[in-house]
Formats: sequence, C-alpha cells, structure tokens
Amino acid sequence: MVTNPSLRPARARVSAIATYVPPRVLSNADLEKLVDTSDEWIMQRVGIRERHVVDPGIATSDLAKEAALIAIQRAGLTPEDIDLIIVATTTPDTLFPSTACVLQAKIGAPHAWGFDLMAACSGFTYALTTASQIVAAGGSRHALVVGADVMSSIIDYTDRTTCVLFGDGAGAVVVEPADDEAIGVLDFENYVDGNGGPALCMPAGGSRMPASTETVNERLHYVKQDGQAVFKFAIRNMEEVCRRILDRNHLTADDIDLFVPHQASLRIIIAATEKLGLPRDKVVINIERFGNTTAGTIPLALCEAHEAGRLKRGDLVLLASVGAGFTVGGVLLKWALDR
Ligand code: ACO
Repeated sequence: MVTNPSLRPARARVSAIATYVPPRVLSNADLEKLVDTSDEWIMQRVGIRERHVVDPGIATSDLAKEAALIAIQRAGLTPEDIDLIIVATTTPDTLFPSTACVLQAKIGAPHAWGFDLMAACSGFTYALTTASQIVAAGGSRHALVVGADVMSSIIDYTDRTTCVLFGDGAGAVVVEPADDEAIGVLDFENYVDGNGGPALCMPAGGSRMPASTETVNERLHYVKQDGQAVFKFAIRNMEEVCRRILDRNHLTADDIDLFVPHQASLRIIIAATEKLGLPRDKVVINIERFGNTTAGTIPLALCEAHEAGRLKRGDLVLLASVGAGFTVGGVLLKWALDR
C-alpha cells in the first residue's frame, strides 16, 4: 500500500470507445445450408442467432481502422495524437508485420509505436491492462487499444462443431491518464493455464507445423476445439477471476453496476453470473447478434451498453474473459465517460 499520495501511481481511463462490424450477416439459416445444424440447436446451446462476416479481401486491420478512427474522434483527438497502438487479435493480417504496424499506417498515426497482443478471447482485457499500465506509468498519453478478429478466416465452414460459434468484429478504446484519481482502471487480474492449449487451437501455420500441402489438405489451418473442456474451464474461471478481483477490492457482486463478460456462449455467461450472484439486468449480453468475435466481444458489448445509456460516469464496471491458451482476464474500472 502506497501511503504517500505523491508516490501514488496515476490511473488510466478509457476516454472513448467505438466498434465496427462488417455489414454482411451470416444467419443460422445460412449455416443450415452449409452444415447439418439448426437454428434451434445453435440458440439452445450457445444463444447465437446471427454473426457478421467479412467479404473476401477484408482483413483485421480494415475492421480495426473503422473502429479506431471513430474512437479517436470521440476522444477529441486526431491520429497524430496517438502514441501507442496495441492490437489484440488472433487473426492478424499477416504473421508479420504486426497488424498494429499496418493500422498505424492506415490511420496515419506517425507518432505511435505498437504491437500485437495474442491472448485469444482474453486479448482485449490483456491489451487494456497493458495499455493502462503503460499510461499510468507515464509511458503514453494517448494509447489506442483495439480488439479485432476476422474469425471467418480461420473457421472451417464444413465443421458444424465450430463454425456456428464465431463472427467477425472490432472494438477500439482510447486510454489516457485519468482526470480524476477515483476514475479509471482500478484493478486487473490475469492468469493463464498453458496446459489447456490443445483444447482450443489452430494446429498449423506456425513454426511447429509450417504450412504445406499436407497441412492444407488435412484442414489444419482452422480452429480445432474440445468444446466440453473449454465449456467447463470457461464457467469455472469466469467466476474465479471475478471473485479474485472482488475479494481483493473488498467488493461483492452487489457493488458492481455492470458486468461485461466475453461473449462465447449464453450458457457460459448465465452459469458464471448465477454463480457470482449477479442479476441479469447488470449483465451485458449481445452474443445473439454477433457470436464470438474473440478479441472483439468485450468492446462490442461495452460500447453497446454505453451507447444505450446503461453506463454513467463513476459506475463500477467489471470485464471478464476466458480464451484459448487457456487465458483468463478481468478488469475492474470506474467508468469515465458521461452518459
Ligand atoms: N449443430 C447440430 N449438432 C451439433 C452441432 C451443431 N452446430 N455441433 C455439435 N453437434 C452435435 C455433436 O456432433 C454431438 O452429436 P453426437 O451426440 O451425435 O455425437 C452433439 O451435438 C453433442 O455434442 P457436444 O460437443 O457434446 O455438445 P455440447 O453440449 O458440449 O455443445 C458446444 C457443444 C456448444 C461447443 C459447447 O461445448 C460449448 O459451448 N463449449 C464452449 C465452446 C466455446 O465457447 N468456444 C469459444 C472459444 S473459447 C471461449 O471463448 C471461452
């Protein structure tokens, strides 16, 4: 505990938020034509009715650019003001250069350095954590954090067990020093369990198994998943990460004004929030219209809540994510924006 106020580190706050999804909608009815599935099965198991997907030729940086430019404008800034870009993504435009570099050029942010952060569905919480620490330490004045994925680029649309789950989308926030010490990112909790790797992965295309005719023929450049292992881990750890943050901050679920969980499955969200004792009206759920957009889900849900007037300055917001790796992340913040 730092008792001398002059030594207390500054806080970082989210000063603007924006999102972008590609216009094309892939409904459950569309998927019924591709694989042996049904709207009823998908709604009952995961609560997804439709998801947005890109047209050919559109990449993660294209979605990121749209969200980023709106967020920067909403923060009252121009791209020239941005000094740090972190892009959380599992589907970078290319393995290198990073999507952050591509985005820096696309939005015209000459004073920004940046990098990609790969933590699958925990990408946004990890990136927000990272940026807020750099900002709080004085290393950045105007950081841009983007969670963006084109999951349709790594989904096997002949595999009914995975293709119904994911969609494409992006969200961006600007992170700046807090104007009020009581506002901004208050705490975070991140951890990983690397033993869970095989349960959710894309086997080929990296240094372990470089792309070859065989890897393509064996469809190894697509998402592979042990759904039940992921399901159990996600419920347990969505609850665990929230409890750790609440306990450490001497809070209970009653103190939280809004809970914004990663949107992987309605059943996971409901089970975790019931265990936490959070009433449904404090939980943001929009999975029905977007599916799992990986690093995009939390900013998509947070922005929607903000735009719907569900948040006011000073509200206590809890974000939580679980993703491939396994990665787990939670962020506690006092909302810094007016309604
Ligand atoms: N349509 C119809 N039937 C299907 C479909 C589908 N889309 N997918 C699977 N099935 C069938 C299976 O083939 C199986 O049939 P069988 O009994 O004849 O073999 C049956 O449904 C049951 O399969 P299970 O895998 O046991 O189904 P389960 O109840 O576990 O549901 C699901 C699968 C929805 C994937 C679930 O395990 C889940 O939600 N897991 C979490 C996955 C997730 O959220 N991943 C996202 C990334 S990680 C993250 O973000 C946290």
